[in-house]
Amino acid sequence: MQRAQRKLEHIKYALQLGDGPADTHFADLRFIHNCLPELNPADIDLSAEILGKRLRLPFFIDAITGGTDAVTEINRKLAQVAERCGMGMAVGSQYGAVRDCVSFGSYTVVREEHPHGLVLGNLSALATPEQAQAAVAMLQADALELHLNAAQELWMAEGDKDYAGLLANMVRIREALGVPVIAKETGCGIAEAQYAELLASGFTYFDCAGAGGTNFPAIETARQGNTLSADFAAWGLPTVWTLLDGCEALPSDAFLLASGGVRSGGDIAKAFALGADAVGITGPILRKVVEEGVDAAVAYVEDLAEDLKNYMLLLGCRAPRDLRKVPLVISGATRNYLDCRGYNLQAICQSRRV
Ligand SMILES: Cc1cc2nc3c(=O)[nH]c(=O)nc-3n(C[C@H](O)[C@H](O)[C@H](O)COP(=O)(O)O)c2cc1C
Repeated sequence: MQRAQRKLEHIKYALQLGDGPADTHFADLRFIHNCLPELNPADIDLSAEILGKRLRLPFFIDAITGGTDAVTEINRKLAQVAERCGMGMAVGSQYGAVRDCVSFGSYTVVREEHPHGLVLGNLSALATPEQAQAAVAMLQADALELHLNAAQELWMAEGDKDYAGLLANMVRIREALGVPVIAKETGCGIAEAQYAELLASGFTYFDCAGAGGTNFPAIETARQGNTLSADFAAWGLPTVWTLLDGCEALPSDAFLLASGGVRSGGDIAKAFALGADAVGITGPILRKVVEEGVDAAVAYVEDLAEDLKNYMLLLGCRAPRDLRKVPLVISGATRNYLDCRGYNLQAICQSRRV
C-alpha cells in the first residue's frame, strides 16, 4: 500500500467512523457549583506560555496529516485555524517524508500559515536521530512529538511490529535534538508505569491521547474491509483514566497535553482539572475543516473556549490551572478504576497535580 494512499484513507475512515466505542469517562466526573465565584468574566484568562510560545488558547490541533501533496490544502486550512485561534498545531507523521525526501511542502505549509505560532513535528518513536533532526528542521518545529502507536501498527497490514529497544531509541532521539521531545500516544493512553519509565529516562513532556475519541485500530481494520472485535475496538486507557495515572506519576512541572475524545467545554474543563497543561482536539477540527471550511472550524474552537470560560466562572477560576484545585465528585467506572489502582480517592477529589 502506498504511503500517500494510506494518508488519504486515514482521513476518510477517521471521518466515517467517528469516536469510540471506548468511553472517555468524562461523564464520571462532576464539578461542585460555586455560588460565590467572586469573579468578573473579563478577568478569566485562557492564555498560557507553552513550549516557549504564548498561546491565546491552550488548545492544540494534534497530529493529523502530511506526506502527500493531496493533503497540503487540508494542512493549510488546519494551520489557518491554529493561527486565527492562537492555538498550537502538530503535523502528522513526517516519517515517510524524512525517509524518502518527499512532499515536504505538505508540512511546510503549516509553518507558512502559522509563522510565529507553536508548531510540533511528529515522528514514529522508531525513527533515527538523524530523521528526527530533519523533521524538526523542516518546520523549525518548537518541539517534536514521538508517537507511540503499537495498537495501530498491530492492525495495520503493513505496520511495524518490532518494538524491542523502543525507549532507548527515544532517548537517543531526545539527546540529538535541541527542542523538547513529547512522548505521545495515539488513542490508547499512557499508564502510570509507562509515565514513570519515561520520566526515569528523562522525558518530561507527554501527550496522553487516551481512548474514547479517534480509534486507530478501528480505522486500520476498516481500511482492510474488516471490523474489529468488540474487545479490541474498546481497547486502551480511557482519557480520564490516563489523566488520573498522570496525576499519580507526574510531578506538577511536567508538561501534560490531554487528548483523545476531548469534545466539549466541559471535557476541556475536566481535563484541566485532572492536571492538563493544554488540550488536543483533533478529529472534530479535521471534520469541520474538511466538511465546512476554516470559518466553521474557527467558530467551533471559539465556542469551546467560551464554554470553558463559563465553567471557569461557575467554579471561580481565573486561569485553567486553577481548575486543578476545584473539588470533583468521581463516580461510576472511574471510581472503580481508582479503587482497583489503589489511588487515594479523597485526595484526588480535592486537588490534582498541585
Ligand atoms: C486522520 C488522522 C491521522 C492521524 N495521524 C497521526 C499521526 O500521524 N501521528 C500521531 O501521533 N497521531 C496521529 N493521529 C492521532 C491524533 O493526533 C490524536 O492523538 C487522536 O486523534 C486523538 O484525538 P481525537 O480523539 O481528538 O481525534 C491522527 C488522527 C487522525 C484523525
